[in-house]
Amino acid sequence: MRILVVGSGGREHTIGWKIAQSSSVKKIYFAPGNGGTSQLGENIDIKADDIESLADFALKNSVDLTIIGPEVPLSMGIVDLFQKKNLPIFGPMQYAAQLESSKAWAVEFMRSYKIPHPDSYIIKTFDEAIKFVSKPQWKQYVIKADGLAGGKGVHLPATQKDAEISVRQMMIDKIYGDAGNILVFQEKIIGPEVSVVTIVDGQNYHILPLSQDHKRVFDHDKGPNTGGMGSYTPTPFVSKKLFKKIESEIIQPTIMGMKQNNHPYNGFLYFGLMIVEGSPFVIEYNVRLGDPETQSQLPLIESDFVEILQSCIRGSLSSLSISHQAAVCVVLAAPGYPGKIETGQIVHNAETIQNSKSVLVFHAGTSNENGVIKVTSGRSLNVVGLGKNIKEAQTNVYKAIGKKNNGVYFDNMHYRKDIANYAI
Ligand code: AMP
Ligand code: GLY
Repeated sequence: MRILVVGSGGREHTIGWKIAQSSSVKKIYFAPGNGGTSQLGENIDIKADDIESLADFALKNSVDLTIIGPEVPLSMGIVDLFQKKNLPIFGPMQYAAQLESSKAWAVEFMRSYKIPHPDSYIIKTFDEAIKFVSKPQWKQYVIKADGLAGGKGVHLPATQKDAEISVRQMMIDKIYGDAGNILVFQEKIIGPEVSVVTIVDGQNYHILPLSQDHKRVFDHDKGPNTGGMGSYTPTPFVSKKLFKKIESEIIQPTIMGMKQNNHPYNGFLYFGLMIVEGSPFVIEYNVRLGDPETQSQLPLIESDFVEILQSCIRGSLSSLSISHQAAVCVVLAAPGYPGKIETGQIVHNAETIQNSKSVLVFHAGTSNENGVIKVTSGRSLNVVGLGKNIKEAQTNVYKAIGKKNNGVYFDNMHYRKDIANYAI
């Protein structure tokens, strides 16, 4: 088979690494890929949002299956386009992708199907928004841009003045473009977060081992939010009772709701949950795999991943076998990230480490210049430790990160030293 993976991050390198294990796979293309994916297959110079060119490429190169990493092409309707051209593709259609591409749409969907979520107000004009934040209630709400904002669209203002600034930035200054035309004010809730990722064939589903992301840049959840500084899988703090609740109150009603809407959901479906006093609430849907959750989840899948995806597209999901190991992923970030960054550093030892048994290295912001791997963007590399439990996986990952002559390294890199401590 010839497979096209769309995207360029750690998630896409991990997807490529997993599908390369399938005996049916002969060639993998990545569009546009990164320094790591170039060692696994062929990088193609087409951006993830250039969906017409991606369809042309798939047609001309007889691609047997296209797998979409990021949300933007899905929200643009890449699946609808490929299906029109009879090109096999894995992912939800544009209508279903609204679960992520419009937070207001998702709130209305959750209301209709009684799926637990924080109390929410959909605000359509600037005047309404200003009125909302001028009352004392502003304190109890977070402000969300309706549309896609690259993970930056949620503001948690500390003062009333900041709340007004956020509203103005989103609705008037349009810092997120049209994504801020509508806002969702959502009750601020507090509790541990858990990433629940499913594979759904319209009706049947599998739940991948649960994961937890680490969004803040510094240890002990300090500093600004990032795209994710690490993850671990599974999550021992989710009890069997809570897991059952998540399944019956959130996963099943969502899949049934989409089916009842006459838009059965097909693809990966990610539920970003917050647990408040033992009860789960949806704070976001994503219509794709998570990043960096994927990096600690896919290494625990034992089944042939390509076969699973193909069975899902056919609407007859085949069984999924999961290993009882644990995985911890630590992101190595470029100096300055998530602010202004320095790039161009040479990455040392990524390949040697990748070949060891208990550690994997997935690239994100890197390039491959004639065999020399260099840093190109903020979240540069993902180092993943495996072990029989979280503690062992954590020990293995931190042993693999290091100095120039010992462990994955680049000058002035920074990373969190406490990934998975919450689970331990
Ligand atoms: P999102 O992009 O929706 O995942 O939101 C980014 C982050 O904002 C989440 O991971 C939470 O930490 C926080 N957040 C989102 N919604 C809420 C909420 N209703 N209450 C408290 N924190 C929230
Ligand atoms: N890790 C959060 C996300 O992928 O959206």
